[in-house]
Amino acid sequence: MDTPHHAEAAPDRRASNAVTAVVGLAVVALALVFVFNTHVAPSHWYAFFKWVHVTGAVLWVGGGLTLTILALKAERSSEPAEMAMIARQAAFVGERVFAPIGLLVLGMGIAMVVNLDLDWGTSWIVIGLVGYAITFLTGLLVLGPQAKRIAHLIESVGAEAAETQAAIKRILLIARVDEGVLLLVIAAMILKPFT
Ligand code: HEM
Repeated sequence: MDTPHHAEAAPDRRASNAVTAVVGLAVVALALVFVFNTHVAPSHWYAFFKWVHVTGAVLWVGGGLTLTILALKAERSSEPAEMAMIARQAAFVGERVFAPIGLLVLGMGIAMVVNLDLDWGTSWIVIGLVGYAITFLTGLLVLGPQAKRIAHLIESVGAEAAETQAAIKRILLIARVDEGVLLLVIAAMILKPFT
């Protein structure tokens, strides 16, 4: 049975979800109007792919950068509980949000290359593919397993244990290097060097 507190929270949550849905739909609808009324893209499909690609990149890389900033702040404050919380949140968004968005960014990048018949050997496209491969493998082979290990350590020896804190510092450091790779891919996409 709902406690009074939960009974009050439900309508609040519904109102919050409704606002999120309305804002989301309005953004998508207006962006699609832009897609069909742009004259700087070679085709409407290309414009659509690019909109999804760059929006995905903004959410993915911007989200990662926010976590990096919060991790640096937690590290400075030397608060084990804060560090553990950031690591847990990073593991959640990394797996549930950034990984699928990254796939979408890759898919839309490939769609643009095919749509415009671009050369797969072009330097900035190669940098994009290599950058994606690095970040994908880092997530699969390092960040994912390490995040699970940290969750296990927090449960078994606690967030404050030296072993847990060392593992958290290591994973946040690797995530920072990963973020650097993504920022370099963005620079390559924008500046298209060596072409
Ligand atoms: C690692 C992930 C990637 C990120 C963060 C990323 C980010 C970006 C950004 C920010 C732009 C906008 C550049 C601009 O308009 O000046 C862009 C454009 C583009 N990206 Fe990516 N990208 C990634 C991977 C890829 C991959 C793997 C491919 C190809 C398979 C690709 C193909 C393209 C294409 C074709 C454009 C449009 C270029 C243009 O119309 O000027 N991207 N990307």
